Amino acid sequence: MTDFKLTRRTALGGLGATGALAALPLAHLHAAAPGIELDVRHASYSLLGGTTTRGLVSTLPDAPPPVIRMRRDEVFIAGVTNRLEDYTSMHWHGLRLNNAMDGVPYLTQLPMGRDERYEYRLTSPDAGTFWYHPHCMTMDQMALGLTGILIVEEDDDPGFDADIPLNLRDFRLDGQGEWLDLWTARGAARGGTFGTVMTTNWQQEPVYDAPSGGLVRVRLAATDTTRVYKLFVPEAGARIIALDGHPLAQPVDMPKTEETALYMGPGQRADIALSMPASEGQTVKVMTDAPGQARSLASIRAVGSNSARDLAELRPLPANPVPEPDLAAARQEEFVFGWTPEGDLPNNGLCGTLGYTFWSINRKPWPGDAVEGVGPLATFKLGESVVLRLRNESPNDHPIHLHGLAFRPLRSNKRQLLGTWTDTILLQRDEIVDVAFVADNPGDWAFHCHVIEHQKTGLAGFVRVLDS
Ligand code: C2O
Ligand code: CU
Ligand code: CU
Repeated sequence: MTDFKLTRRTALGGLGATGALAALPLAHLHAAAPGIELDVRHASYSLLGGTTTRGLVSTLPDAPPPVIRMRRDEVFIAGVTNRLEDYTSMHWHGLRLNNAMDGVPYLTQLPMGRDERYEYRLTSPDAGTFWYHPHCMTMDQMALGLTGILIVEEDDDPGFDADIPLNLRDFRLDGQGEWLDLWTARGAARGGTFGTVMTTNWQQEPVYDAPSGGLVRVRLAATDTTRVYKLFVPEAGARIIALDGHPLAQPVDMPKTEETALYMGPGQRADIALSMPASEGQTVKVMTDAPGQARSLASIRAVGSNSARDLAELRPLPANPVPEPDLAAARQEEFVFGWTPEGDLPNNGLCGTLGYTFWSINRKPWPGDAVEGVGPLATFKLGESVVLRLRNESPNDHPIHLHGLAFRPLRSNKRQLLGTWTDTILLQRDEIVDVAFVADNPGDWAFHCHVIEHQKTGLAGFVRVLDS
């Protein structure tokens, strides 16, 4: 593979097969192919009681982006049509899919203009909780609401009575439901700009029903652009059964207090098995610690007669088929995340810019998605085992995300790690974490901080996995 960035001409030549397929109307495809059509468009919705916020971006006219459910190892066709004036693209966070379906502008596809449709043929060897969001005009479109949950179902359900996805995110609104600045230079240069309205599935403290004494799978997804959630469930028996889409070999108890909270940074997910209270009307609250005081994100209310089930009745989640890296033979690389407020302003072509450079990987700020001739941070042979040392040289947290591959955290200089497969790891200030993976999925895979203001002001790059 040569070191080229996608231009309109190379895209038409190089991606000819995909382009031709994308132009076929859906009816010409195999009738049984499961899928969904998503129109990216403006929406209006009541995020604050009684006032309607206009100018949201969703794939439904007046509702949050839908929860997508697909199955392991099937081809799921997600047709995305852009109905906005601005360009867009869609990324399927955490899926180990074909590189051409990854949705990264200029790296894996061209930005989609108004009324253009891109056909994403999604596949996943892994079952679990994932999500989707744009990767072009990312800051604006995510802040305006375009973040949805994507579930890949296990072949056999472990035995839950209910499955409740909770999409956690903030919006930056004033008291009248009008938009505040979606980001600020001050925030971008520090920990990011926080929203003012905390929501779950675009609502404030929604209440969901589940059978009394039943077993509930709660799927938490932190789709905010900035906030690190500090989660705990005080009143119920609850276990963490998966993190970032991948099962824990040994589930652990869900924290019950803010002091022991589960930290979940932007982009991360957690699947919780919850044992509902026995009597009708009792509720379980999912809480987060927040500046000032802990607060409830959502409640689950027991309804009906007591089914008296026990967490021990759940079948364990089957492990996902992620290959184990060979640590003894692994190739070592180090990536340093830091503050480098110099260099040219990022050039993202048609995909928007914040107009600042603050952050860097290995002291080089990402020059922008549309700059040609920018090489990968590292190139791996297909099937090679890799150990990456991730070094945070800044006082801010960085949820570091790698596309298309799953990696295993090995050790940290600051804390105990659970070591389950992940696609996003939250690096604390001055933390150094070694992670390992097998480079088994060929292509150019974006690698960046998931605080979007950091990503868009330099903390981004990509790695290359050769296809032979
Ligand atoms: Cu969820 Cu490149 O992102
Ligand atoms: Cu991703
Ligand atoms: Cu960051």
